[in-house]
Amino acid sequence: MWERKDFLDVDSLSKEDIEMILDYSEVLETHSGRGSKLDICRGEILVTAFFEPSTRTEKSFEAAMYVLGGDVLLHHEAGSSRDKGESKLDTLRTLEQYSDIIAIREPEAGMMQRYADELDIPVINAGDGHNQHPTQAILDLFTIKKEIGCLDDLKVIFFGDLKYGRTVHSLIKALRLFGRNQFFGVAPRGLELPQSFAGNDYEEIDMEDVIKIKPDFIYATRIQKERMSLDDRDKYSYEINAAFLCKLPKHTKIMHPLPRVNEINIEVDKDPRFIPFKQVRNGLHTRMALIALLLNHEDELQKISK
Ligand code: NCD
Repeated sequence: MWERKDFLDVDSLSKEDIEMILDYSEVLETHSGRGSKLDICRGEILVTAFFEPSTRTEKSFEAAMYVLGGDVLLHHEAGSSRDKGESKLDTLRTLEQYSDIIAIREPEAGMMQRYADELDIPVINAGDGHNQHPTQAILDLFTIKKEIGCLDDLKVIFFGDLKYGRTVHSLIKALRLFGRNQFFGVAPRGLELPQSFAGNDYEEIDMEDVIKIKPDFIYATRIQKERMSLDDRDKYSYEINAAFLCKLPKHTKIMHPLPRVNEINIEVDKDPRFIPFKQVRNGLHTRMALIALLLNHEDELQKISK
């Protein structure tokens, strides 16, 4: 039974919550082929308020609500009364008057609880600064489960900007709810995983060690330049290319939340182990499941599960 009003971080989720979302994501995937629509959320409106750029997260929330049979309002900063000096909170309180659920992306870490306290409708964290991106973690888990059938006994190497990469922060926490997973990090000096996300199950390694570990997944991220000082922005570079992929075991999959800038060479795109666009597709069904649960449509989900 789903009983939460909001979806703000991975910390407040149990393994059972995650399994429930993943099970319903699978059901929704089988019930929503391209071009077909459900009527689970008919008459309801999702609003997105993204105070940072987005392609996949915003569009997948929009598509998810459409496929669930609901409607969508997109708030965009440019051209809104934010240009006249209106606060984010007043903007959100306004959008709340026209909608049943809201997905918010926010540059400041840790603001989501404040928004959730202020708003009566369910609030979904669509990324808060360098902190977390819990809906991405759900789609990443769904992808991993679809690829290898379970979420236990995995070796995962996080690669790139682990300091500011919020998708890594949420995914490592989510994977800790499952059994015996081992985590490794390859990061430029200065962009290592913060202590608050590292644990006994996490080890920093060098690029040369990656092959020895025989990981199940390498989860790469771009350098989050927008979170750095101007001086630091061009300081770091790293790349996964075809030569590197050749040395990896056949079972090692390459994941990335996207956008990719230059950390994965496009020469690897045709390799079946490169799966970021599968992650993108999985974002649709996991976000459908989340919206439906947060809008209390578990009965309808159960009905189509039979
Ligand atoms: C990520 C994000 O916004 O944190 N993108 C996404 O939502 N898929 C990763 C990133 O921006 O690098």
